[in-house]
Amino acid sequence: MRVLVVGQGGREHALVWKLGQSPLVKQVFCAPGNAGTGMDGVNVDISATNVEGLLKFAKAESIGLTVVGPEAALVAGLVDAFEKEGLLVFGPARSAAELEGSKVFAKDIMRQSAIPTGASQTFTSAEAAEAYIAEREETRLVVKADGLASGKGVSVCPNKAAAMEAVNRIMRQQEFGDAGKRVVVEEHLDGEEVSILAITDGSTIVPLETSQDHKAAFDDDRGPNTGGMGAYSPAPLITPPMMDQIISQILVPTIDAMRKRNRPFKGVLYAGLMMTNQGPKVLEFNVRFGDPESQPLLMRLKSDLAEVLLSVAEGRLGELPTLEWDPRPAVCVVMASAGYPGEYETGAAIRGLDAAAKLPHVKVFHAGTQLKDGRVVATGGRVLGVTAVGANIVDAKLRAYQGVKCIRWDGAWCRHDISDKARKHTVSE
Ligand code: AMP
Ligand code: GLY
Repeated sequence: MRVLVVGQGGREHALVWKLGQSPLVKQVFCAPGNAGTGMDGVNVDISATNVEGLLKFAKAESIGLTVVGPEAALVAGLVDAFEKEGLLVFGPARSAAELEGSKVFAKDIMRQSAIPTGASQTFTSAEAAEAYIAEREETRLVVKADGLASGKGVSVCPNKAAAMEAVNRIMRQQEFGDAGKRVVVEEHLDGEEVSILAITDGSTIVPLETSQDHKAAFDDDRGPNTGGMGAYSPAPLITPPMMDQIISQILVPTIDAMRKRNRPFKGVLYAGLMMTNQGPKVLEFNVRFGDPESQPLLMRLKSDLAEVLLSVAEGRLGELPTLEWDPRPAVCVVMASAGYPGEYETGAAIRGLDAAAKLPHVKVFHAGTQLKDGRVVATGGRVLGVTAVGANIVDAKLRAYQGVKCIRWDGAWCRHDISDKARKHTVSE
């Protein structure tokens, strides 16, 4: 079978790498891909939201399975277009992708199904949102643009003035365009965040191993939010009974609610949770694999990913044997460009990738790279995800940072404490 992965980040490189190991797969294409996907697969110069172009390519190349990485392609209706033409594709249809595409919709689903989440109100005008904020006691609030905003639509506000300012930016200055026509103002939740990903064909739900992202830019969770500066799996905070609670209180009711609303969900349901004193609460739903969570997760997955994703596309996930995982933990450290998550520099040549590739149990996934004149250059904010498995979390961290040490380019930086949180919850190492 020939497989097409849509997207160009670290998640897509991990998907290309893992799918390429399947005995079912002859060739993996990636559109548009990066320098790393071009090494482990074949890049195709079509953007992830060019649905017509991708459809034409998939037909011409007899693609047996298309796997969609980014949410923008899902919200643009890529899955609907492919299914209409009888092509097998992994990911939710546009109507189900609303779970990520609209925070108002997601809150609605959660309210109606009593799925635990922060208390919130939705507003369609800046005046109404401001009046609501003004009436509150002085408190921390979270203001969220309704639609997709490249991960930047959420403002965690230390006080009411900051919340007012966020409403102003989103609704009056229209910083995110139409995505800010509605806002959600939500109570601030305290706790640790975990990422729970589950694969589903709309009836069977198969949770993946747990993982934890590091959203803040700098060590000790300081600085602005980013797309994720590193991740590890498993998250020891989530014990088996806690996972059972998450499945029964969050995953199952969400998938049921979508089916009842005639928006059957298939693909990856990603629940971003805050582990509060009152138990797990949903911060957000995503409708795709996490980035960088996919990198450590897929490094630990022993089952044939192509078989798993194909069984979802064909609606027969229930027939699949239980997933097999490497019990060893994995850690992914993101290396970023100078300036990220603000404006960043691009174009620097990356050195040391060959040396890192020789390290055992280490895989360097590319995120923002391109091949130019035979050299790999940094072209994005998050550039590489250096990922390693180890005998325990300390060993996995050590190996990942050994990989980082091999790699250099002007302005490259990373957090130095990725996975340290896991050790708090690990009884013995
Ligand atoms: P979201 O896109 O809704 O996950 O928001 C992005 C990030 O903002 C989350 O990963 C959290 O770090 C933070 N966040 C979102 N909602 C809340 C909340 N209610 N309380 C505290 N932090 C939040
Ligand atoms: N790592 C966060 C995300 O994929 O949305």
